[in-house]
Amino acid sequence: MFFTQFTLYLIAFVVLATVFAIAEAMRTRQGKYRPPSPLKLPIIGHLHLMSGYQVPYQAFTSLSKKFGSVFGLQLGYVKCVVINGQKNIREALVTKGHHFDSRPNFERYQQLFSGNKENSLAFCNWSTTQKTRRDMLKAYTFPRAFTNRFYTLEELVSSGTRSVVAALSTNTTSTKSVISRHCANIFTRHFCSKSFDVDEATFVEMVDNYDEIFYEVNQGYAADFLPFLLPFHEKNLKRVNGLTHKIRDFVLDHIIEGRFDSFDVQAEPDDYVESLIKYVKSGESPQLSWDSALFALEDIIGGHSAVANFLVKLFAFLAKEPQVQENIHKEIDRVLGTKEVSISHRTLLPYTEATIFEAIRLIASPIVPRVANRDSSINGLEIEKGTVIFLNNYDLSMSPQLWDEPEKFKPERFIREERLVKPEHFLPFGGGRRSCMGYKMVQLVSFGILGGIMQNFTIGADDTSYTVPVGSLALPKDTFTFKFVRR
Ligand code: HEM
Ligand SMILES: *[C@@H]1O[C@H](CO)[C@@H](O)[C@H](O)[C@H]1NC(C)=O
Ligand SMILES: *[C@@H]1O[C@H](CO)[C@@H](O)[C@H](O)[C@H]1NC(C)=O
Ligand SMILES: *[C@@H]1O[C@H](CO)[C@@H](O)[C@H](O)[C@H]1NC(C)=O
Repeated sequence: MFFTQFTLYLIAFVVLATVFAIAEAMRTRQGKYRPPSPLKLPIIGHLHLMSGYQVPYQAFTSLSKKFGSVFGLQLGYVKCVVINGQKNIREALVTKGHHFDSRPNFERYQQLFSGNKENSLAFCNWSTTQKTRRDMLKAYTFPRAFTNRFYTLEELVSSGTRSVVAALSTNTTSTKSVISRHCANIFTRHFCSKSFDVDEATFVEMVDNYDEIFYEVNQGYAADFLPFLLPFHEKNLKRVNGLTHKIRDFVLDHIIEGRFDSFDVQAEPDDYVESLIKYVKSGESPQLSWDSALFALEDIIGGHSAVANFLVKLFAFLAKEPQVQENIHKEIDRVLGTKEVSISHRTLLPYTEATIFEAIRLIASPIVPRVANRDSSINGLEIEKGTVIFLNNYDLSMSPQLWDEPEKFKPERFIREERLVKPEHFLPFGGGRRSCMGYKMVQLVSFGILGGIMQNFTIGADDTSYTVPVGSLALPKDTFTFKFVRR
């Protein structure tokens, strides 16, 4: 024999290794690596891996330690990919934002929006209609400083804050209800030029209905992934659907009234309601039906529930942090004295503003899941069209690698040289073409209300042994109660 046994083995090894290396190189070139994935069970796939955690995102973080920053999960019938890490998340939101701009087709979303989730600003897929809806909203949700719209909003927030302070002084009503009703009134005044008596029964019912729906859309359901479980939710979904119809009635009877017919298409729109009416009446392309326009209006009025729930959580953090309250008191007293806080003072009160960011960080509300609208890839790993994408911003907000003592409430982490600084990896409002439409409203309205409250009170609670739930903004109707003690 010419070849010894050893040489044969060696040649076989070299040939095999070369074949593998070429195959690997070709796969990489075509981006054909699939995201790794844990072993799965029949039917439920990987759903069981989510158990034992407060929020699924904590499970995502621990799985990423084992499977890498981009990994696949089969959640029931739904094929998912979880994306971790600032670089990968930016790739999905920004660089390849146009590949990942759809939203999941959960049956629950369909039912909450009259059988068609495309009616929803937040759960619809991307379309030219969605682009139009977003463009139309911008002027109202992102009012530019030193414009009339900004000064009008400033006055609305200040007058709302004065009534909040007066209402909380009596110590009788639920904080969440007071805050929700005043936030709702700020929103209806700002977007619809409509002011309400915040104690009037129809208005109170409308606010409560919104709050229940907000709670509902913020819940994760196993039935989103295992549709055969939906019958168990049928009764509840019907109930919530009934609430959406009551909101429609309220909007038509008390906000729109005769405005659709009486609006002159030639006129300049004066608020968001008129912008919508003008667009619908002018029949511009892409066409927006009056029905869809009403859904968009209802969604944006509903933003008040997000702000109100957020504020209550913020107070829940503050009641446990007397030192933070003292720092806010000192900042406001030093900078403004007895002059009332207003939203123009944001840059003058960086610590107060940082408190808001710190609460947003710790709540770590998820980025609304995306869906790949085409075959694509993240970090070189292949992602198939239709895959549901979870962007792990929980990790970006809570990772000990990114934050010093991340579990602690420390507003000063957002301050450098007496100015507010947001780290690049902090993405509580998502990013790219599906980013949050309401973040400026959150910042402005909650700053105004927090400022006014801190100027007048110290926030206490009978028992501060609670923990503030993370992973969602929504609180149940009956939740924290506080003592507002005059300073
Ligand atoms: C603290 C409160 C809030 C937080 C943490 C928050 C966060 C988010 C996040 C993470 C998204 C998904 C972004 C993405 O996919 O990249 C989102 C979407 C959205 N938010 Fe907010 N949000 C808040 C309040 C609000 C408010 C007050 C409004 C309305 C005025 C609002 C309106 C929207 C809309 C319309 C979308 C969907 C945008 C789209 O899909 O095109 N949000 N929000
Ligand atoms: C609310 O009640 C607490 C005690 O229950 C009291 O200390 C506080 O002064 C009250 N707040 C106001 C604004 O009256
Ligand atoms: C809250 O404090 C401000 C500033 O000290 C003061 O002008 C305002 O009257 C107080 N609000 C109420 C309702 O007492
Ligand atoms: C939304 O987009 C995804 C991905 O492109 C697609 O699979 C899904 O059918 C779309 N849903 C609707 C309701 O159009």
